[in-house]
Amino acid sequence: MNIDLVRDIKSDIKVEFLDKASLKENKRYKKLKKAGFKAEQDSICFLHEKSILACGIEDNTTDNIRSVCSVAIKALKSSNYKSASFDVDTKNIKAIIEGVVLGGYEFNEYKSKPTKSKLKNIYLACGNIDKLKDSFQEAIVVAEATCFTRDIVNTTPEDLNPPSFAKLAKKLAKSNNLKCNILGEKALKKEKMNSMLAVGRASVHESKLIHLTYKPKSPKKVISLIGKGLTYDSGGLSLKPATSMVTMKMDKAGGCAVLGIMKAVSELKLDVEVHAFIGAVENMVSGDAYKPDDVLVSRSGTTIEVRNTDAEGRLVLCDVLDYAQDKIDADYMFDFATLTGACMVALGQYTTGMMGHSTKIKHAFMMKAAQDSGELIGHLPFNGHLKKLLKSGIADTSNISSKPYGGAITAGLFLDKFIREENKDKWMHFDIAGSAYTETPWDCNVYGGTGAGVRFMSSFLKDIK
Ligand code: BES
Ligand code: ZN
Ligand code: ZN
Repeated sequence: MNIDLVRDIKSDIKVEFLDKASLKENKRYKKLKKAGFKAEQDSICFLHEKSILACGIEDNTTDNIRSVCSVAIKALKSSNYKSASFDVDTKNIKAIIEGVVLGGYEFNEYKSKPTKSKLKNIYLACGNIDKLKDSFQEAIVVAEATCFTRDIVNTTPEDLNPPSFAKLAKKLAKSNNLKCNILGEKALKKEKMNSMLAVGRASVHESKLIHLTYKPKSPKKVISLIGKGLTYDSGGLSLKPATSMVTMKMDKAGGCAVLGIMKAVSELKLDVEVHAFIGAVENMVSGDAYKPDDVLVSRSGTTIEVRNTDAEGRLVLCDVLDYAQDKIDADYMFDFATLTGACMVALGQYTTGMMGHSTKIKHAFMMKAAQDSGELIGHLPFNGHLKKLLKSGIADTSNISSKPYGGAITAGLFLDKFIREENKDKWMHFDIAGSAYTETPWDCNVYGGTGAGVRFMSSFLKDIK
């Protein structure tokens, strides 16, 4: 499907947005009313004889436009129309592109007979192409990077394991002119990344640390992005129940988001230096598996009592965070991880949990990025009392909390132990356990990986001063 920005075009069908007030004033009001169309949010109505697809919106916000476009594109793709057009302006162009590209996304890699759509061309019609050209290009790049992330998340654990993840990162580096450094287990041992290595020990696939660099000539800021890349999380010896294990191919979504952000940043040619660090590991069972009761000596020297091998993401991230802080003196450090089921309990399925010390990053930068991108972010507050729950009788810290409440926050507080004093105000942790994957469509997300993190982080990086 092609999407073009055009001045004026005759398409097979034109998409129009209507709210309740504008419906009554519309010249086709009678026909639409007869068809039962009430302009309710996310309702659509074809007027075939007029070549119109009416789309209901509650009011003219970008969230509403994106949402109804996601409904419209699915209907258009299963119709016999070959082309469709939308009137665009500076306010709605991004939302329309997101709705069309992300709402129309399909992952057909494992379908033997994927359904073919007749829809070939989407025309975005506007009076002044020059005025909208940049917004058009930017929205397309970010939406495609989000789809790239979704594709990786959706790939099966058989096909996407730590070595093939590293290969994919190398391929992106080659096509997008990024520097790429991959550490295998021998190098990880040398780096003393024993905590990360323990998690991957039972897997037949070698653990990999992926480091990609995007470095423009005179960057305004330096950013480190750290991603949890658990290509499969069986829980390890603290094995997950069968029903909780299904979908755990998505436990690499943090790493996939980081790759997607690198793709977007390099294609938008942003004026920031960005480093991606991905801990690609598989959490499995075998005679060689790491065990509850083990004490691990992490890269930073902090010793960790393993009380649950299913709290493995933090054991990978603590070493990757420590490595990243040694390698790069960043202005900002952001980690993305499907870290806890508890985050979903706290915020619901669709919202990313944000934790960290800097009020400015949280409340000024990230809330704006969330608003601008349409992603949902909720803040979970750290507090010293919860920190005590990570105490261990035998090591410096336990890998789990002693109480069942506030699990997303205690996981964030565990990571905080590995953030050096001078970096506390530069770091933010994003728990995307609820937002990275969905089995029921919502907004512009369809079944599978959502690409959570790519849109809001691209938005933040684009606006950096
Ligand atoms: N990958 C899971 C978290 C997760 C759960 C992500 C559901 C997406 C959907 C993580 O490794 C995990 O298993 N966490 C445990 C932590 C617990 C053992 C303290 C959890 O959330 O139950
Ligand atoms: Zn786990
Ligand atoms: Zn996990």
